[in-house]
Amino acid sequence: YDYDLLVVGSANADLVIGVERRPAAGETVLGSDLAVHPGGKGANQAVAAARLGARTALLARVGDDAHGRLLLASQDAAGVDTDGVLVGGAPTGVALITVDPSGDNSIVVSPGANARLTPEDVRAAGDLISRSRVVSAQLEIPLETVTEVVRTLPAGTRFVLNPSPPAPLPAEVLAACDPLVLNEHEAAFILGDTPGDAPEDWSRALLRLGPRSVVITLGAQGALVAEGRTDTVVRVPSPRVDAVDTTGAGDAFTAALAWRLGLGDELPAAAAFAVRVGAVAVTRRGAQDSFPTAEEVGAP
Ligand code: RIB
Ligand code: NA
Repeated sequence: YDYDLLVVGSANADLVIGVERRPAAGETVLGSDLAVHPGGKGANQAVAAARLGARTALLARVGDDAHGRLLLASQDAAGVDTDGVLVGGAPTGVALITVDPSGDNSIVVSPGANARLTPEDVRAAGDLISRSRVVSAQLEIPLETVTEVVRTLPAGTRFVLNPSPPAPLPAEVLAACDPLVLNEHEAAFILGDTPGDAPEDWSRALLRLGPRSVVITLGAQGALVAEGRTDTVVRVPSPRVDAVDTTGAGDAFTAALAWRLGLGDELPAAAAFAVRVGAVAVTRRGAQDSFPTAEEVGAP
């Protein structure tokens, strides 16, 4: 394999404003100066993996505009292979983000060029896919594009999906996930109805939908790992940190997990590493700017 990880997903310019509290409907509040950062769940995952030392490629679409150039520059700076980043067709995706004093964010995404990443683009990238040990995706690109990725995967290539923002998933996509990586909101959406209070029950219910494994991220509580093969559910605690900005921490978690699985880690060990990566990311501002190197996480 030429790549440890191929990320198929979105690239957005993040327009970020700090607020004391979010406005209600019809209300105006004043916030901080505007910050513009490279973001998008796909682009974030690619930068996170590359910064950890993974040989990484990105399949995405940006606009032929200043935001697109910002995103390409940040991928290049992290050492991501951007031959698979297509340019044009619509403006680069934009995420309008407010961050409150507790570090929590609210995000509205305008997909722009991300919505024009097509199944045909995936078919044209067959070579890139076959040269990659692990392929990861999220849902800021069309679902039919993600479905085409699953159909194109060679046997033996591991597939990791973060269903964010959540959407109903076809059985063939669910069956390919090893793991399905999601937070509690996404889990509740996909399950439709919440089976009890314990995330352990949620993970078992998710496994019954067909993925080979499930990882539920629990914020400051760490993560929960469930495997169909061994029929086990394991809790992975998080180190205690002071959160400043959680934007992109889930993307860093997923990228770290996917990379370590490709290196041969068992799922609980890969999740324990990924939890530490996410914990560092929340202590710094921004998404990509906050992602650590393996050294900073104290690898292995
Ligand atoms: O997961 C964080 C990302 O979600 C941000 O970078 C923003 O672009 C949105 O896509
Ligand atoms: Na951060």
